[in-house]
Amino acid sequence: MINIFNLNNSAKNLKNIVNKINFNETAWVNGGEIKNLEKQTRKILKTKKEVCTCNSGSDALLLTLQHLKRKDKDIIITTPISYIASSSIAKFLGYEIIYIDVDINNYLLDLDKLDNFLKNINKKIKSRIAGVIFVELFGNTGDLKKLSKICNKYKIWSLGDCAQSLGTKYNNKSSLDYYDFAISSFYPTKIISTYGDGGIIFLPKKFKNKFEMLKNNGHNLTDKTKCELLGINSRLDTIQAYILNHKIKNFKNYLIHNKKNFKIYNKNLKNFLKLPELNKKSSTNGYLYSFRIDKKLVKNFLNFMKINGIEARQFYARSLPENKVLKPIIKTDLRNAKKCSAEIISIPSRASLNNYEKNKILDTIKNFFNNSNKIN
Ligand SMILES: Cc1ncc(COP(=O)(O)O)c(C=O)c1O
Repeated sequence: MINIFNLNNSAKNLKNIVNKINFNETAWVNGGEIKNLEKQTRKILKTKKEVCTCNSGSDALLLTLQHLKRKDKDIIITTPISYIASSSIAKFLGYEIIYIDVDINNYLLDLDKLDNFLKNINKKIKSRIAGVIFVELFGNTGDLKKLSKICNKYKIWSLGDCAQSLGTKYNNKSSLDYYDFAISSFYPTKIISTYGDGGIIFLPKKFKNKFEMLKNNGHNLTDKTKCELLGINSRLDTIQAYILNHKIKNFKNYLIHNKKNFKIYNKNLKNFLKLPELNKKSSTNGYLYSFRIDKKLVKNFLNFMKINGIEARQFYARSLPENKVLKPIIKTDLRNAKKCSAEIISIPSRASLNNYEKNKILDTIKNFFNNSNKIN
């Protein structure tokens, strides 16, 4: 089976990495290796933001949303198509949610609809809106200048959920830098991954100390008896930082290969599939090759890929508001999200695919559409 994520292959690398670990290390949490990782990440992504590692992308959302919490601002706007955490963590902290529909062409929160919504919503609700969580789904991003303009106009913050988009750029700059705060994940399926979980927050410099305390049960590292604020334990393990410091050296290489695969797929498949139309100024990290196909063909397509030994998946077949516990405070028109959740499919496009595997994927897809009348 040609899998979307090749977790076994990356496990082989673990042996090499483990050999390089300094086993005389004593700081298995909060040590120099963590500082080194934070420094490397800033350098490689060329971000102006300060960074703070933690235990997962979900914790990165939790810590950031906790920091942003205000009594009178308890509503967050976000996308209905994403991994659960971008909504559930907000709900967990007591925020209400409003979903804005996605753009049918790129599956990301529709910024014109966002602007329109904020323009027309009654004052009582508007005064409670704290900010927007913009999810860079599949590694893609939108018009981030427009997003900042909207957020400035309505005096709300922006939080980029960049769990899938490390390395994605807008206008030749890391997309992370366009948000007030951004987070990412080192989950094993992500573009830079640990052998466990890990997360990172991109934040303004002035909040670095506060976030260090938030993830260390509210104390600083010199006086562990003094609790300065209420926090949690969300420290990235040193052993994971060793792995990430090793892998991050290859980050540019992953991006080059991912993007190359996207180019080959686009060239070969553009006449068969509805490919996403990305903002001209944006450049994706090539995380996951995803597209829409006619709802009537989805079941047969997935089946055809499976019998040909290729994994194809609908990652977001259930939109977030369809979950009882993630219901919004007010209903909005989510017709594109409904269509996207029924029609978006992802296929293997990772950097580690060999030419035989890539050709097999392309031939199988062409074969399906050339014969789709017969297959149906
Ligand atoms: C869009 C999105 N947000 C948040 C997360 C949460 O990251 P983690 O699994 O590290 O908690 C993920 C990844 O799983 C994700 O894909």
